[in-house]
Amino acid sequence: MAEFKRTLITSALPYANGPVHIGHLAGVYVPADIYARYLRMKGEEVAFIGGSDEHGVPITLKAKKEGVEPQDIVDKYHAIIKDSFRRFGISFDVYSRTSSKVHHETASEFFKKLYDEGKFIEKTTEQYYDEEAGQFLADRYIVGTCPKCNNEKAYGDQCESCGSSLNATDLINPKSVLSGSVPVMKETKHWYLPLDEYEPWLKEWILEQHKEWKPNVYGQCKSWLDGGLNPRAVTRDLKWGVPVPVDGAEGKVLYVWFDAPIGYISATKEWTPDWEKWWKDKDTRMLHFIGKDNIVFHCIIFPSMLKADGTYNLPENVPANEFLNLEGDKISTSRNWAVWLHEYLDEFPGKEDVLKYVLTANAPETKDNDFTWKDFQARNNNELVAILGNFVNRALVLTQKYYNGEVPARGLLSDFDTETMERISTLKAEVEKSLDTFRFREALKFAMDMARLGNKYLADMEPWKVVKTDAERVKTVMNICLQIAANLTIVFEPFLPFTMSKLRGFMNIEPLPWSELGNPDMVSAGHCVNEPELLFEKIEDTVVEAQMQKLMDTKKANEIAEATAKPAKENCTFDDFMKMDIRVGTILEAEKVAKTKKLMKLLVDTGIDRRTVVSGIAEYYAPEEVVGKQVSILVNLEPRKLRGIESQGMILMAEDADGSLKFVSPQEAVKNGSEVK
Ligand code: MF3
Ligand code: ZN
Repeated sequence: MAEFKRTLITSALPYANGPVHIGHLAGVYVPADIYARYLRMKGEEVAFIGGSDEHGVPITLKAKKEGVEPQDIVDKYHAIIKDSFRRFGISFDVYSRTSSKVHHETASEFFKKLYDEGKFIEKTTEQYYDEEAGQFLADRYIVGTCPKCNNEKAYGDQCESCGSSLNATDLINPKSVLSGSVPVMKETKHWYLPLDEYEPWLKEWILEQHKEWKPNVYGQCKSWLDGGLNPRAVTRDLKWGVPVPVDGAEGKVLYVWFDAPIGYISATKEWTPDWEKWWKDKDTRMLHFIGKDNIVFHCIIFPSMLKADGTYNLPENVPANEFLNLEGDKISTSRNWAVWLHEYLDEFPGKEDVLKYVLTANAPETKDNDFTWKDFQARNNNELVAILGNFVNRALVLTQKYYNGEVPARGLLSDFDTETMERISTLKAEVEKSLDTFRFREALKFAMDMARLGNKYLADMEPWKVVKTDAERVKTVMNICLQIAANLTIVFEPFLPFTMSKLRGFMNIEPLPWSELGNPDMVSAGHCVNEPELLFEKIEDTVVEAQMQKLMDTKKANEIAEATAKPAKENCTFDDFMKMDIRVGTILEAEKVAKTKKLMKLLVDTGIDRRTVVSGIAEYYAPEEVVGKQVSILVNLEPRKLRGIESQGMILMAEDADGSLKFVSPQEAVKNGSEVK
């Protein structure tokens, strides 16, 4: 393998049409951040690139819906996203955005060079056009039925139900999102990247030369390549985006998936005038951290663009992750089914690392995984508190207690002491191997094993039992515990940077480089440690219950929003309707019918008489709430017995989308007995 001098780490640019959630974090930003921190600790030269993806149809649709400009939408979310990443401690060297001037110039020049060199095919084709809106319908401007899975809400570029990537013309029963009308076909000219020409090269480069890529990434590439590639349009008829820099291309912009990855280049330019060495020097290694829905763009399309240009490096690896679900359901920005980073940071102050830990321990590296609040609580309480926090706390508290915080000198070593210290260096090798192959959850497990080792050592040595009788032995034991704690500050630093900074404060030590990991002599005898505080605190049931309640509320709100009204019943005649005698009456008395959940026995003044009605409202109203209410009552309904009580009529209720019942009452008080007609 080639030796590299520096590493360029890119992380997928999140769309600036919503805030960042735990799915983004687990898939992309947490692993990328761990890796960047790890390399920096090893003293390597690193550029960690991020930014907001601010073009594309979803942003224009959101702007339209809210009656604002696309720029307003991206300004709002770019600020939220950037700030939440900063607070969460994602250690970007630069966080840029694609509506910036430098990006527009960079993307425009990139296109122009390929255009001038004849790397595109120019094609005029018929595309869907909305005559009412006077606009071509690209990508998400059009919905219809997916030809592969029959999902009726597939978009013109993709079906979210089966994941197929589509062309608008593939959709069955296409409809315009703008006007709801059926679109017509109209001619338009676009530029295509002939991916078919790159296919032999891609096959060689990925399938032969990059067999080491993760199986999920390699497998997806193989299936795309085996299926055969077609020319792909890199421009769109749209106003929002980077204008196509060619005469006769008015009203056209670069396709968002053409300009967005160039955003990595623009961001690097924004960061340093020396950007070319990061993109073109052969001794720079490029890595793309992404989620699985981005694989084709980063492994096939962007590399083909770079290859077409000919002056850029290609990615060495693309460690894409699968998806994280939330409490068993797919995370969704539009359905608000997510744990939003900015909300987490507000609701769990000081617990940035807890989320980092849980998302890494449960990272969707090889398959989709599920985030649950119960698991979040369990990992915090049983792992961070009980293992890592517990060990360092005991080591530091005992040092205070026995030696006033002064690190004791080691005496003669037992075999167990030596073995324990040796185990630290084997763990170092294991952590490194996992990190080097992007297996972050495994690396974290090995790091945790180091804390487990400390706990076991302390539990086996039981210094508290021998402190009176064998003072020399206890000095050795405590010295070794503190060496383990110092090693923990290194091994956990990429994963839990906030906590390790705290721990270094307690231990009164400076940040240590990765190369010191495994060193059993990091804190010298005589060094003074500080009074420790707890590294982690227990998370109580009430806290996770509140989070789960929040999700239940979202679910309910979604169900209501999605429930569509039932179609109307068959027509009835005027006479049919006139047969019904509906009056306004007042409820005088109410009681629940014993041994039923739903039924309530009511005494109603109908203006004609006072009568008993049994009504199925007990789940929605308490008896004392309904007494005195005016309601509508069908008075000529055939009496019927319910639970042995004769019901003389029926109270009219409106059934809400969630199935709950509400009284149908006059807006203002009327005389009892008034007819409803
Ligand atoms: N915005 C895209 C997404 O969220 C990712 C863009 S990555 C880049 O899926 F390469 F285009 F920048
Ligand atoms: Zn589908």
